[in-house]
Amino acid sequence: MLKFSNKFSNSRDAVVFFAGEGFSFKTKEGLFREDEETKARLFIKEFQSSNQKAKILSFDVNEKLKFFVVKISKKVSNFDVEELGANFYLNIKNSKKIKTIDFYPDSLNGERNKVINYSLSFIHGFNLKSYDFNKYKTQDLEKEKNFSKNLQLVSFFSSEIEKKYKDLKAVEDGIFLTRDLVSEPPNILTPERYVKEILKLKQLGLKVNVLDEKKMKNLGLNALLGVGQGSINKSYLVSIEWNGSKNKKDKPIALVGKGVCFDTGGISLKPARFMEEMKYDMAGSAVVVGLLKTLAMRKAKVNVVGVVGLVENMPGGNAQRPGDIVKSFSGKTIEILNTDAEGRLVLADALSYTEDNFKPKFMIDLATLTGAIIVCLGEEYAGLFSNNDELSDKVFKSGMEVNEKVWRFPLDKNYDKLMDSTVADVQNINYSGGAGAITAAQFLQRFILKNTPWAHLDIAGMAFSKKAANLNPRGATGFGVRLLNNLIKKYYE
Ligand code: BES
Ligand code: ZN
Ligand code: ZN
Repeated sequence: MLKFSNKFSNSRDAVVFFAGEGFSFKTKEGLFREDEETKARLFIKEFQSSNQKAKILSFDVNEKLKFFVVKISKKVSNFDVEELGANFYLNIKNSKKIKTIDFYPDSLNGERNKVINYSLSFIHGFNLKSYDFNKYKTQDLEKEKNFSKNLQLVSFFSSEIEKKYKDLKAVEDGIFLTRDLVSEPPNILTPERYVKEILKLKQLGLKVNVLDEKKMKNLGLNALLGVGQGSINKSYLVSIEWNGSKNKKDKPIALVGKGVCFDTGGISLKPARFMEEMKYDMAGSAVVVGLLKTLAMRKAKVNVVGVVGLVENMPGGNAQRPGDIVKSFSGKTIEILNTDAEGRLVLADALSYTEDNFKPKFMIDLATLTGAIIVCLGEEYAGLFSNNDELSDKVFKSGMEVNEKVWRFPLDKNYDKLMDSTVADVQNINYSGGAGAITAAQFLQRFILKNTPWAHLDIAGMAFSKKAANLNPRGATGFGVRLLNNLIKKYYE
């Protein structure tokens, strides 16, 4: 629980001070200076941060009270402070003694903007790191299941910070929804159950429209339907609208997500090792859903539509075969050469349907689309592909500003040619020429029919991680929510 006040709590187990270079400040408990003597005492415990521009020092004032000093140098960035918040969380999360904590940023000598910005970054980092997906653990009762501490931000600027924090809380809740959806096991989060989870968002004022298999068949979304036909779980296409713009007729921004609830590869079956990771193959759609929650919570002044294609890619008696040809919503025919290249089939229909139905200002799709992007960029950057330099620049900058980094790859008619089929209009993989992440993007581009500005984010390396990093615990990261939220806030509100 987080509260904001301009008074210290009556009894607290720890106080967190923010301190600039060469800090020195007075409290009821005494005067603290960075001199040789106190340094010796303060350095009892020192936490590593990725650089030495910032660190946290701690020491016991007495049996009942612990002080933490968050030392912030001039060169520190907001990311550094977010990471400090995350480190601080890791340090206290298992402490039985520390239950009530006061954050006191004003010790940064009252520099208003710094106090406000660093407070927000510290809390945001702390909260994002505190996410834990433990609902299926029943035997680990030793540990507290849910993190429960009383946190209070004590500052002269507390009401201003509290007001600004509302937007960050909306981002946190959006990210947590994304992480929850991505973390759920595939036997629980089937496409049908996923639809039910999305319908819950109607409470926030979002408009949700669900297309079931019958409706999709009538509309001709056969590329998407083909992917799901081997599964007993039915496929869906869901649109989620947030209309917050003053001008109701404003063209919406469209966000399209790959929602493959489990990707076995289909008849082109994947190897057994790590196949369980393919429960994350709906992460692109989960980012779209999480972001729409964020926008609704913070009542963003913008029109946005999210469209997610929800399917399960299974082998089976009715599964799609390599060699099959399907007619997509766009009218183009697709030769399926590999049933494991299914995400692009789902997105092909979702993109052309979105463009046709919502006539958006621009479209951004997110997908755990290719293993090839992980070969290129690992777990540091997502791949960015776009038919529009301006949109691409905006996406790039928005990502950099919130430390969700993307890197642009080329599109080119010569890559595009590699996707020509001998028997249909297009084939779903290329057998020659390499560049697997790019040819996947070229495939998608063929389904943008009216030259709408479009960007594709291949987040296969970013959606989840086996190890904890920065602001994420291990598992689902929620990568993309912050980037898109920042893009919308910065350029379109
Ligand atoms: N969902 C996978 C991509 C993926 C791989 C995501 C690893 C996250 C981690 C996608 O559907 C897929 O299987 N792609 C194939 C395409 C290939 C058959 C052209 C791939 O990348 O191997
Ligand atoms: Zn696949
Ligand atoms: Zn996939």
